[in-house]
Amino acid sequence: MSADEWWRRAVFYEIYVRSFQDSNGDGVGDLAGITARLDHLNDGTPRSLGVDALWLTPINPSPMYDFGYDVSDYCAVDPLFGTLGDLDRLIVEAHRRGLRIILDLVPNHTSHQHAWFKASSATRTSAQRDWYIWRDPAAGGGPPNNWVSSFGGPAWTLDPRSGQYYLHSFLAEQPDLNYRTPAVRAAMEDAIRFWLDRGVDGFRIDVIHKLLKDAELRDNPPPDPNDPHPVRDYFGQRHLFDEDQPEVHEIIRGWRRLLDRYGERMMVGEVYLLDPRRVVPYYGDACDELQLAFNFSFLWSPWDAGAFRTRVEEVETLLPADAQPTYVLSSHDAPRHRSRFDDATHGADRARVAALMLLTLRGTPFLYYGEEIGMRDVDIPPARVRDPVGQRFPALGRDPERTPMQWDASPAAGFSACVDPWLPVGPEAPRVNVHAQADDPTSLLSFYRRVIWYRRSSPALTEGAYRALAAPSDVFLYVREHAQQRILVALNFGGQTRTVDLPRAARGRTVLATRHDRHDPVADRIDLAPSEGVAIELERG
Ligand code: GLC
Repeated sequence: MSADEWWRRAVFYEIYVRSFQDSNGDGVGDLAGITARLDHLNDGTPRSLGVDALWLTPINPSPMYDFGYDVSDYCAVDPLFGTLGDLDRLIVEAHRRGLRIILDLVPNHTSHQHAWFKASSATRTSAQRDWYIWRDPAAGGGPPNNWVSSFGGPAWTLDPRSGQYYLHSFLAEQPDLNYRTPAVRAAMEDAIRFWLDRGVDGFRIDVIHKLLKDAELRDNPPPDPNDPHPVRDYFGQRHLFDEDQPEVHEIIRGWRRLLDRYGERMMVGEVYLLDPRRVVPYYGDACDELQLAFNFSFLWSPWDAGAFRTRVEEVETLLPADAQPTYVLSSHDAPRHRSRFDDATHGADRARVAALMLLTLRGTPFLYYGEEIGMRDVDIPPARVRDPVGQRFPALGRDPERTPMQWDASPAAGFSACVDPWLPVGPEAPRVNVHAQADDPTSLLSFYRRVIWYRRSSPALTEGAYRALAAPSDVFLYVREHAQQRILVALNFGGQTRTVDLPRAARGRTVLATRHDRHDPVADRIDLAPSEGVAIELERG
């Protein structure tokens, strides 16, 4: 594995910038705040979390209809988050600690307040008209086709001045760019170069599978009655024509060539297609597209050993040998896994089992800020709902997983000097926080640190092959194998004690355990308590 491919062994950490650390007391997180907290993430010693790379959610100027996923200038920093100088300092400080920084790039759509859209919408004959997707109403009136916005309602909004509709895959305040126009491609490549020149290590690319749409804008058909899928077929359509078009791959290959010219830079794409078969092509034919593509399957998995195993096996079977898998348990778009997998007696133990799995599978793991201390979703009173999705569909709102990072027991949890930050601080913050867990060897934070630092030093976990083994029900059992090391991981998802036989003639040493009272040595079999997980380094035998 070359230095160029650092992202293969890295643990990534997603920072929802608005909520990590506020340095100026305005109640919103910012870049200087992140710099001040780098030691938590990696100070070069096992007293820190030990992650390798940070993904920052969008920091570009934005009117914040979708909290930064509506960019009004691709080559600047929103004053709410700081300045370009603050970003430069963050990059220098992060790099000094061996931490890489990747930025969120939102190329599918801009803000309606972007100068490009203002020019494009000025008149029908504007020189930049074709930078966005404009169409006349359908014969007889109404939107040009049946496409729907991912946030609900038609994907078209009528501009009364010109009498034409424009396309938006999300909010009406997020018009979609037209990648069939060469000048749009060139402009986005300029933006990519701008950040690479400033020293960022790569990008997380928002909804990359949506960049291109059917050239004829054909209607989407209804779901296939023989294979309906409520999530994939959102709002009752098969999305055949408004996403995942073959021409998108040429654009991604171009971006990859650009990144490769800089060396050691990478992209991870949000390819929100759910079926891994449809995600594989985004790695490219010869790994010449995305280095990494998100795999969101754990976000929808029930707490069940067989379900997780099936999802992992799918990835292991479908991905070509060189394509690196990814795994994620939580993100800024889904309920936190500490809440999803909660259980009155085993909730806290499940968070450890989930972490041990995430960090020992073959692939690049992405953590979400706060999961290392067991942050849960926070109930948001209706009057404080900020997410546009939550305002339209209260049950789907994403504010609960975006609340301020819980650093300590002070009034705003150490997040801000402002006692009433942009989203409320979770009620558990006085108990569940970094300060309370930092020096407690039995805490979840200490567990994450141990697993990540062990992983860093383990050839089997960072580079080894994966092989699932037969196991008692409720147990997910696999080995990670490398020429120098073999590690068996046994995870009990059930509520009963389960006995696991070690492979014949093997002896082992427990290297990681969700329970701190589990000790060496391990002989022929181990009893796993309910919601317990262990990693055992096997001796050759
Ligand atoms: C992606 C982002 C999400 C955003 C949407 C529109 O799915 O993760 O937060 O709302 O794109 O940009």
